[in-house]
Amino acid sequence: MCGIVAYVGNKPCQSLLLEGLKRLEYRGYDSAGIAVIQDGKLNICKSVGRVANLEDKLESIGNFSGKIGLCHTRWATHGGVTDANAHPHVDDRNGIAIIHNGIIENYAALKTYLEEKGHVFRSQTDTEVLAMLIGELYCPAEGIDLEKAVQAALREVTGAYAIAVICEHEPDTLVVARKGSPLIVGIGADEYIVASDAAAIVAHTTRAITLDDYNVVKITTAGFRTSTIHDVPVTPRIEQLELELQEIELGGFSHFMQKEIHEQPKALRNCLRGRTDVRDGRVILGGLGDHAKELTKLRHVVLTAQGTALHAAMIGEYMIEDLAKIPAIAEYASEFRYRNPIIEDGTVVIAVSQSGETADTLAALIEAKERGALSLGVINSVGSSISRLTDAGVYLRVGPEIGVASTKAFTGQVAVLTLITLFLARRRYMSADTCAEYLKALETVPDKIDQILTQNDRIRRVTEKYVDRENWLFLGRGYNYPTALEGALKLKEISYIHAEGMPAAEMKHGPIALINEGMPAVFLANRGRQYEKVMSNIQEVRARGGHVIAVATEGDEEIKRYAHDVLYVPDIPEPLSPMLTVVPLQLMAYHAAVLRGHDVDKPRNLAKSVTVE
Ligand code: AGP
Ligand code: GLU
Repeated sequence: MCGIVAYVGNKPCQSLLLEGLKRLEYRGYDSAGIAVIQDGKLNICKSVGRVANLEDKLESIGNFSGKIGLCHTRWATHGGVTDANAHPHVDDRNGIAIIHNGIIENYAALKTYLEEKGHVFRSQTDTEVLAMLIGELYCPAEGIDLEKAVQAALREVTGAYAIAVICEHEPDTLVVARKGSPLIVGIGADEYIVASDAAAIVAHTTRAITLDDYNVVKITTAGFRTSTIHDVPVTPRIEQLELELQEIELGGFSHFMQKEIHEQPKALRNCLRGRTDVRDGRVILGGLGDHAKELTKLRHVVLTAQGTALHAAMIGEYMIEDLAKIPAIAEYASEFRYRNPIIEDGTVVIAVSQSGETADTLAALIEAKERGALSLGVINSVGSSISRLTDAGVYLRVGPEIGVASTKAFTGQVAVLTLITLFLARRRYMSADTCAEYLKALETVPDKIDQILTQNDRIRRVTEKYVDRENWLFLGRGYNYPTALEGALKLKEISYIHAEGMPAAEMKHGPIALINEGMPAVFLANRGRQYEKVMSNIQEVRARGGHVIAVATEGDEEIKRYAHDVLYVPDIPEPLSPMLTVVPLQLMAYHAAVLRGHDVDKPRNLAKSVTVE
């Protein structure tokens, strides 16, 4: 997803801006641009493609030396990927430059109004409309300075935004605002670094203002003023950013995705630390403490998410029904929010999200809360929009996830949903002994993932055999049906191979027609209640010439009679098995992408956090 970095302070800012933008590249984008005010004049440079292209262009036109500026990586929503549509956008009268993450939903009506006022547009974007609207409202002679013009313009727009605005007539002032898209103001020594992600700030300061929706901040080197879009003063919330620089650097790996796959044992140890009391068979989740009574009387659980987070939520659905005996359902947030859902008394909605900024998940959460549901968050990013909106929650604590393809966040989400399930189960029918058994097994997951990771080379060799095939199937049953969906998503999103996940039994209801000679079918065939059924499905694929790659439980020799290739995982109680069976699938996707020469951490068209609808 797009990135924002802005600066006002006591030193030339071009290199700081570009360095910050590079730390946001992992979020995915298609073009980049920068604006710097130098000697009272606004300098702009924009380029499609990577930030490196922008740097080359700056070298050719001469670098900027001003001490106030903004830069942006765009993920196009309105208007194609062109230099003209890249940000910053400038109004046509006052030298006002803006960068924007989000969507101005009523841009068309505003554009018509502004064209009737004589404004001439040069791009197809909604963002340029906001630039022109601020320019139209800007009237210092009548006291409408840049801050007031931004406030007035934001009162007219609907949609989502995180913006940073400068004006060559106010060369010391940076105005920023947010609604529905994240924005953080880093507070340095006589300088301020604003960004859409802490990764661009922590190299300079860890002290920051986290903004709420409709907050506007006017910043100069003399200080800052926080208000609402109605110019009502707001007490700023100043927090300590917890991100460490080494957490967002490669540390010897070739890609962030590779690093984060291999980080899973450490990440899960952090996730579980202090939350499991095996001796007393209890789960300790401080974040749920205030709502323990309500949670004990739950009658229905709705889990809502998108993408990988939804696959984790689906595993949570199975676990909550299976172990806590509470009716549960996992739903696409984008569907839940619009289908007029029924939320009855005793319902909790659990929003699962790595970034905590996914627009659809945020909207689904708001919808459920408005209908009376208690809301919980299973989130990785501390202080994110979703985490601030929920009544309570449990952070993943797996560290920042930089790779666009989610890996350690998935296993972290499943681990936290396991903890929440056991937390609920112990307040209903599960005995302390049974809970202790599950907690003991849960605590073995990090070491067992370490064991699986030692097979990395073998998994690469198996992947190499099939990497030229253009269509794969991923099949599983029970807890490993969502894992099959996750395996398919991993492969398709970074290797661009078409992959489809489904319940293994569903294959016979149509998809089996796809099976042709040599077509790879990945089966999650670990020991479980439906093992024999999966064996039958494997034979159905073999009978039609498909090639079977099986993920199986260590010690299972029988599977070798049916599968062309077998990848083993250690044994574990079935509800916990997705945290193990997913690891070979993550590694297969990673190696397929590398073997195909793709940009693993910045796959085409993808964004790390989809903060637009
Ligand atoms: C996962 O590999 C994808 N990058 C994507 O599906 C992601 O899981 C989805 O967009 C949800 O993101 P979130 O967890 O930040 O809400
Ligand atoms: N809607 C704006 C555009 O299409 C901003 C997109 C983004 O968030 O990068 O330019």
